[in-house]
Amino acid sequence: MPQTTLFSLYESSKLSLNNRIVMAPMTRQFSPNGVPTSDVAGYYQRRALGGTGLIITEGTTVNDKVATMDANIPQFHGEEALAGWKKVVDAVHGAGGKIMPQLWHVGMARVADKAPFPELPSAGPSGLFKPGKQGAEPMTVAHIEAVIEAFAQAAADAQAMGMDGIEIHGAHGYLIDQFFWEGTNQRTDSWGGSMANRGRFAVEIIKAIRSATSENFPIVLRYSQWKQQDYTARLAHTPSELEAFLLPLSEAGVDVFHCSQRRYWEPEFEGSELNLAGWTKKITGKPTITVGSVGLNDDFFGAFQGQGSETRAVDDLLERLDAGEFDLVAVGRALLQDPNWANKIKEDRMDELQQYSGKALATLS
Ligand SMILES: Cc1cc2nc3c(=O)[nH]c(=O)nc-3n(C[C@H](O)[C@H](O)[C@H](O)COP(=O)(O)O)c2cc1C
Repeated sequence: MPQTTLFSLYESSKLSLNNRIVMAPMTRQFSPNGVPTSDVAGYYQRRALGGTGLIITEGTTVNDKVATMDANIPQFHGEEALAGWKKVVDAVHGAGGKIMPQLWHVGMARVADKAPFPELPSAGPSGLFKPGKQGAEPMTVAHIEAVIEAFAQAAADAQAMGMDGIEIHGAHGYLIDQFFWEGTNQRTDSWGGSMANRGRFAVEIIKAIRSATSENFPIVLRYSQWKQQDYTARLAHTPSELEAFLLPLSEAGVDVFHCSQRRYWEPEFEGSELNLAGWTKKITGKPTITVGSVGLNDDFFGAFQGQGSETRAVDDLLERLDAGEFDLVAVGRALLQDPNWANKIKEDRMDELQQYSGKALATLS
């Protein structure tokens, strides 16, 4: 591969990486009773050995009984699970990689009778999974405060075990995004209403994490316009709405924004080629991660139904990265399919790239 920013070192005051390739968080549900096993350590270690600069783990849940929707999703609390994660960190570091857990609360996406503690109702700002679909009473303020504290504790535990930062899952219609989105946040107190009020839950989480960890511990926030409940939903329709959304989050202490799109090449607003990560960097001045169909033709919505995708060239991605539109590039399915994806791109082994098979996730090592 000719000289490209993709394989240049990334250096910021809080984070240094061997290259710009980030493994996107992808849920797997291979952690019995929430405890990551040696299978999980091996899975991430293979991606680090394959040249991935930074691994963001699958979503791992904070300490709230209704944070998870499946007993096999790894949790990020409790002695056993944290000891399991410590082995994952050591395996990735041993392979020369860096790793951050994606801290997750699924909110109203949890179907109570299929989840641990089925007797407990799921949690959401207004108890809505989507507009018109009421599943529970609105969260109490005491519960909101307890969840903020749970995120802070998870971040402190992540730092103590040697993780290289944390990512807050604020995307795709899960709990934090249920606060962001007016479709699921119809509260009339200070946690709902205006854009600033809807952002307050995330702002308080960021501040609590900042005070529970040291100043140089990186905080990444992942967010998306689209929701699993409505692919066409948007938090911001214009650059100025996006600015109103982002600035309080940035000021609260986000170090890196991870901007989730289905296809990185799609412009976010009319009149500019910039994608969501491009706009986010321009507005906040903070580093950003782009994501969405890197190396693949079809987006990932069909992946859960076993849909595959052909490969796609990355030249347009490299041009945008070289131009400084964003700083880092997250790769999902291509890295699921092939742990050595990064090294193959670096060594120009394009003929060895595989299409995404869409096979059951269990069969991909
Ligand atoms: C199997 C699978 C699991 C996923 N799980 C998560 C998750 O836990 N957290 C998250 O933020 N995104 C999740 N995503 C979205 C990916 O992080 C990524 O944004 C998406 O797959 C687009 O990237 P790609 O086109 O390179 O696959 C998941 C995607 C897939 C395919």
